[in-house]
Amino acid sequence: MKKDPISLMKPEVVAMKQQAIFAFNARAKSMDHVINMTIGEPNFPTPEHIKEAAIKAINNNETHYTVPEGNHQVLKAVSKYLNKKYDLDYDPESQILTTGGVTEGVFSAFNAILQPGDEVLIPSPSFTIYGPDAKFNKATPIYLDTSESNFKVLPEDLRQLLEEHKRIKIFMFNYPSNPTGVSYTEDELRALADVLKDYDVFVLSDEIYSELVYNGKHVSFPKLLPDQTILLNGLSKSHAMTGWRFGIVCGPKNIIAQINKIHELATTSISSISQQAALEAYSNGLDDPIAMRKKYQERRDVLYAGLKKIGFNCPVPDGAFYLFAKIPENLNQDDVQLANDILDEECLAILPGSFFGVGGEGYLRLSYAASIEDIEGCLTKLTDYVQLHSQATV
Ligand SMILES: Cc1ncc(COP(=O)(O)O)c(C=O)c1O
Repeated sequence: MKKDPISLMKPEVVAMKQQAIFAFNARAKSMDHVINMTIGEPNFPTPEHIKEAAIKAINNNETHYTVPEGNHQVLKAVSKYLNKKYDLDYDPESQILTTGGVTEGVFSAFNAILQPGDEVLIPSPSFTIYGPDAKFNKATPIYLDTSESNFKVLPEDLRQLLEEHKRIKIFMFNYPSNPTGVSYTEDELRALADVLKDYDVFVLSDEIYSELVYNGKHVSFPKLLPDQTILLNGLSKSHAMTGWRFGIVCGPKNIIAQINKIHELATTSISSISQQAALEAYSNGLDDPIAMRKKYQERRDVLYAGLKKIGFNCPVPDGAFYLFAKIPENLNQDDVQLANDILDEECLAILPGSFFGVGGEGYLRLSYAASIEDIEGCLTKLTDYVQLHSQATV
């Protein structure tokens, strides 16, 4: 008798579970009149001039493969942009790669670096793909719980883990952070770079929210540790372009060349049309994020104040568009149960903190990439829920 074809497949892939976020969202979508505060993408359209550039590219038959790293005109525009925005100095001919979003950038970089038995250090709670990407490469994620340090990595904790785990090859860093919105000052980053420079580890710095910083200026990690850092960024959040799948990976020349080999196997090259859209965004759309950032900040302030009023405390987000709220003591502390109850009773979708891993237990993540009406509706529903369910704390 022939075998079940599934038994011919990689066991670690078959064993992978669908991310809990997708299942939760599918449930929310199956219900009527739900206010959805889980969405991790801008609710603005892509700016008109970028859409026009893409339409022009199609009409001009810019519809063919490009070289794997990306059209060199685009790479030059990326290089100029990174220099102007973050004072970085990447050679467009050899130090920049275009990828299908940061998602593919992480995948290709992990594939090029990790060997079975290696370890990946991931500050937690964190964006949900890093751990599974590490495991897919037979590496072990080592989670650094940041919940006791205001969701920031402290240099002494970083050093301790690097001392304890000699097989850490990658420090997977992300700031401003999804899910907490926390970012770092230049001094804090410098202190981390001072530790990392003593170890043979790469820093993969996911700075996809770098244009959505509300206080101060974003300092890019490769500015502080250029030889060890692989920068990941893109247009998904800054220019409301999640569907275009445009990302960049930048770093030392010989490292980028290796990652490009994996990227080439995975995709040949990313969409030529998205590349032309990116050329426009990086050349003429430097100020596009400003108006969106202003709106996010207004929404953040409304949501933060409203949550505080009903007993949810959270760090004031420095950037991105998420609030990571601690569940008040008088509510059910099981965040998964609580989020499900809120969905069922109030038709309000908010993600449980533990979906984002170690350190997220007892929290809820709310995205304020939502309309102000939805934010106000969310606060009304949460207020109702809290009034009905508060237990007297003894
Ligand atoms: C921290 C972080 N990195 C990367 C991504 C995905 O970026 P991209 O659309 O460029 O693949 C997200 C999306 O939510 C994110 O939150």
